[in-house]
Amino acid sequence: MCGIIGYVGEENATPVLIEGLKRLEYRGYDSAGIALLHGGEISVTRSAGKLVNLEQLVERNPQNGSTGIGHTRWATHGRPSEQNAHPHRSGNLVLVHNGIIENFISLKHRLETEGYRFVSETDTEVIAHLLESYMKNGCSLQEAMRAAEVDLHGSYAVAALCVTEPDVIVTTRSGCPLVVGRNEQGSFLASDVTPLLVHTREVVFLEDGDIALLTPSQISVLGANGEELTRETVTIDWDAEAAEKGGYDNFMLKEIHEQPQVIVDTLRGRYNYETGEADLPDLAMTAEELIAARRIWIVACGTSWHSGLVGKYLFEEMIRKPVQVDIGSEFRYREPMIQKDDLFIAISQSGETADTLAAAREAKRRGARVLSIVNVVGSTMARESDGIIYTRCGPEISVASTKAFTGQIMALYLLALHVGRVRELLSAEEGRWWLDQYTALPGRVESVLKLEPEIKKIAEKYYSKSNFLYLGRGINYPIALEGALKLKEISYIHAEGYAAGEMKHGPIALVDENMPVVVVAPRDRLYEKTVNNLMEVRARSAPVIAFGFEGDEELQRVADVVIHIPAVHPLLTPILFAVGLQLLAYHVAVLRGLDVDRPRNLAKSVTVE
Ligand code: AGP
Repeated sequence: MCGIIGYVGEENATPVLIEGLKRLEYRGYDSAGIALLHGGEISVTRSAGKLVNLEQLVERNPQNGSTGIGHTRWATHGRPSEQNAHPHRSGNLVLVHNGIIENFISLKHRLETEGYRFVSETDTEVIAHLLESYMKNGCSLQEAMRAAEVDLHGSYAVAALCVTEPDVIVTTRSGCPLVVGRNEQGSFLASDVTPLLVHTREVVFLEDGDIALLTPSQISVLGANGEELTRETVTIDWDAEAAEKGGYDNFMLKEIHEQPQVIVDTLRGRYNYETGEADLPDLAMTAEELIAARRIWIVACGTSWHSGLVGKYLFEEMIRKPVQVDIGSEFRYREPMIQKDDLFIAISQSGETADTLAAAREAKRRGARVLSIVNVVGSTMARESDGIIYTRCGPEISVASTKAFTGQIMALYLLALHVGRVRELLSAEEGRWWLDQYTALPGRVESVLKLEPEIKKIAEKYYSKSNFLYLGRGINYPIALEGALKLKEISYIHAEGYAAGEMKHGPIALVDENMPVVVVAPRDRLYEKTVNNLMEVRARSAPVIAFGFEGDEELQRVADVVIHIPAVHPLLTPILFAVGLQLLAYHVAVLRGLDVDRPRNLAKSVTVE
């Protein structure tokens, strides 16, 4: 949730920190700050609100220093304010922190009895005083960090510097991501790769318990006893500009239009057309293990949960395999009946979502095989799983997830094909048929993207409405949920997604001329029933916005407006309808004059529960 940047090297750290924080803005924040070490002095500049406020303070009172740390804060303890903004200071040291210290109250009381005076409402300040207390007793910053880890309970990524150890930044993590890298100008650290890409593509993702020492000339990663550890260097091939907007008005529109490429990239090199098989080397599971899995569990949050629900329909219809889908925050606190050798699939764009991570850890503890479908290379979820399928979406900057959703569904299509072929439920010929459908999807998504002007017209007609109802059946019930989530999270309009067959069990009481109803209606075996639902809402004067197949004249007669997508196999419709609904939500939000990339109250990655 918070963003961390650090630099130690030959250059002035200020521009490195400010530019780094700009590339972290997408994570969501309410205040920001930097600290510089120069000539035996530490200067701290912090501000509430947007980063531009901090920039203006720094311009008015420029500081020098080639060692510095910076932070964008997403408030968890203590209101958004300058006083609660990071970096936090204690004596000769300053630090920044991402995460939640769960035992900060008891630590605060202990430190207050030792004479420390707290000036903020944050849990972070506890870490600063804790480090200072150890350094006062003769520890180096690195030793103090190691000692403090024993006291701290909860999740944290911390970066600290102190006057007595110039040209050094010490950083550690437990449960929150941290990545380091260096070039000839010095050493860098950040809470994700995005701000590092302009400096280096060779990075190291720290692991829980690692302590990294950054100096101008090197980065050392140390273990529990101070021993030097070797960590894998990962090459990030995301083009730095990929995180730019690429000519679009904002990241969300860019990412919606990137979806054909995401499908191509996620499929690339992952199938053998001759044998009609998927090729997933990172799955790290044998055919026998996949076959032996008594049940398949899919657990995720938000949009990723919706792709998991699509996976349920897909696996049950394509390979006749029972699937249990759960929300991360529910699974982790139930007594789930997951058993040894069950297959547990965690789906997450960031790979850092606290509830999904906790659920995966619980599944692993109960002996299940954990496969994660994630977008961020080297993310915690990726590194803790037995098997991985990376969705190759590149950085998804906009808080509203779009291309990652498509990547997740493509990963599920590949996995379903793989399991289907391994279990000999699909012949080579059937495998080739599915691969023909998968590889045709980029072109079909392009066709939907070309409908943007028509979709925008619909947005222009209904953007001022206060409530929407989204209806879908079967594999498109999750798409109704996703369409409603997209609308509510970026336009702040109340929108509900519902299984169309459920409408008469309550929601129809809401339906009137002021409630547009969006209906996903492919010509599948449930089409007639969906059309009946559509007629029922029309009978109550509700405007009906239908998404259906090209050539479906009947739909035109029973809806106020129809968006026609390419007619494909029903199991292949989710992505096509989702793209249409993303565009609808996007244009409604733009017409309402809202910041589609950084919606209020939301963060890109919910790394705390
Ligand atoms: C989706 O538009 C939201 N931003 C949110 O629901 C998101 O999908 C959810 O927080 C899960 O994030 P993850 O995929 O990174 O785990």
